[in-house]
Amino acid sequence: MKILSIETSCDETAISIVETDGKEFNVLGNAILSQIEHHKEYGGVFPTIAKREHTKNLIPLLRNVLSESNSLNAKDEIWHPEKKEVLEKMLKREPELLKQFLEFIPTIKTPDIDAIAVTNGPGLEPALWVGINFARALASVWDKPIIPVNHMEGHIFSALLQDDFKMPKFKLPMLALLISGGHTQLVLSKEHLKYEIIGETLDDAVGEAFDKTARMLGLPYPGGPYISALAEMSRKNAEYTQTDVEKIQSESTSSLRESAHEVKFPRPMLYSNTCDFSFSGLKTSVLYTLKKIPDLTEDIKQKIAKEFEDAVVEVLLAKTKKALTKYGAQTLVIGGGVSANKKIREAFKEMIENEFSKIALYIPSKELSTDNAIMIAIAGYFRYKQNPEKYKNQNIELKADGNLSL
Ligand code: KG4
Ligand code: ZN
Repeated sequence: MKILSIETSCDETAISIVETDGKEFNVLGNAILSQIEHHKEYGGVFPTIAKREHTKNLIPLLRNVLSESNSLNAKDEIWHPEKKEVLEKMLKREPELLKQFLEFIPTIKTPDIDAIAVTNGPGLEPALWVGINFARALASVWDKPIIPVNHMEGHIFSALLQDDFKMPKFKLPMLALLISGGHTQLVLSKEHLKYEIIGETLDDAVGEAFDKTARMLGLPYPGGPYISALAEMSRKNAEYTQTDVEKIQSESTSSLRESAHEVKFPRPMLYSNTCDFSFSGLKTSVLYTLKKIPDLTEDIKQKIAKEFEDAVVEVLLAKTKKALTKYGAQTLVIGGGVSANKKIREAFKEMIENEFSKIALYIPSKELSTDNAIMIAIAGYFRYKQNPEKYKNQNIELKADGNLSL
């Protein structure tokens, strides 16, 4: 089966074509365009800009993906006027996309695909709608079924996918720790494609806490990777200090300044009985610490980043361990953009190796950690296989749901 997938839930516009028999996922074409440069100055994703950029970029990305998968074949046929009207209606809120659509799609042959998968939530609704309307327009012209996909289920499947793009036979119950810019959840799956949220953040998502902390330290958006890099430098410096204590103590004024500002942050809800999280207090602690420091040196920035990352890791580990034990999980999946974090990856690998060696751990490759369309194709495939009939009807309920739950 060949699936064309579309992802526009946040600040990445992504399209892919994936061929699969359910065991192996062969990526025939894959294109992703990050909008980070457009959102940087706002320190976060600005929904109207996200919508504008998706609207502008979907057709060029589709062209690339079709070309990469050798499915770009010219034809010279004029639209049936009725179809044009249908499309004008479908894409009336995205005039730029409609214009590009009418210029491009009539010039190419229907590609050899079986279905179109599209993210219908969660995410920014104006952004999600662009992908959905585009999928509907393509499905109507090419007469293909549409599979709506939950973005978080996509993150679960991209974590399960092996480096050789094979899907392993994983055991249930599966526990998924989903950590992204908008979510921090512990999800339990006792049955294929069925999920129960057993813990989640009561306020900020982990990725959001990384991004806000980064912003306070004057780092660019999205801040996760910058915090991670600073934290790593701090750990390296600490190693160095230990081996060369005397030299540093005698000559470095910055180390004196550092010790004057011992940085310590709380581990929110570490001892609470639930599997829920809270990260807004941690963010506030960073803010208060910064207020007390008149002279923010590179050393202190690194210390703050390290202590912040350590606090996050400790809480994520503790809550995940609690859930693994409580629900007897046999598989642990870590998914979402924050799973690209080196310290988190290492800490979870170590924890599973040392304390839960019977549990299989799946973490996505770095490329598939953050948003992409391949994960939407994979989740779409499993949804379709479960009930193909459901998707044959083009009137299947298809609307953007910013708060869509698993
Ligand atoms: O899943 P994702 O790409 O988009 C959402 O669905 O939200 O996640 C984006 C989030 C951002 O908050 C970003 O700062 C964070 O993932 N992130 C990281 C790292 N790489 C991305 N956080 C910590 N360390 C990283 N290396
Ligand atoms: Zn995501």
